[in-house]
Amino acid sequence: MPSRPQRVLFVCLGNICRSPAAEAVFRTLISERDLEERFEVDSAGTGGWHEGDRADPRSRAEGARRGHAVDSMARQIRDHDLDHHDMIVCMDRENHQAMIGLGTDPGKVRLLLEWHSESGIDEVPDPYYGGEDGFVRMYDLIEAACEGLLGELLSAETDA
Ligand code: 4NP
Repeated sequence: MPSRPQRVLFVCLGNICRSPAAEAVFRTLISERDLEERFEVDSAGTGGWHEGDRADPRSRAEGARRGHAVDSMARQIRDHDLDHHDMIVCMDRENHQAMIGLGTDPGKVRLLLEWHSESGIDEVPDPYYGGEDGFVRMYDLIEAACEGLLGELLSAETDA
């Protein structure tokens, strides 16, 4: 067993649509497998416009339909996040660039869709300005990718 939980941070722009969804999906997966003690999970945005807000109602509603409790409060990335987390999982390339620009060790900044190569895309499209179908697609991508991410994190523990 590892000596402490692996710390995973999901990052998007506003922290009200995509990264709260990814956080909730990842929590569902670890809870289904009784792995809550092995992971510390959080999400944040590179922008701070929604600090303190609940997730977008459309993200919460589609999450609830799929059995995910999306109950995070939006917050902006802070300096502490850069060192604290073992893996920083970004929804798009802009977030990825922003995290590197803040000085995060590039080795721990990843794109979520690296774990969903069949999707043929490498960014989770931002659904904020679109319709509800964008949130359905967003969860399809996030659910598939989070399965792959969890698999990699667990195999890294075994290899360590
Ligand atoms: P998110 O979506 O990055 O997936 O949370 C957005 C939410 C809000 C804004 C942009 C993207 N905004 O500009 O307020």
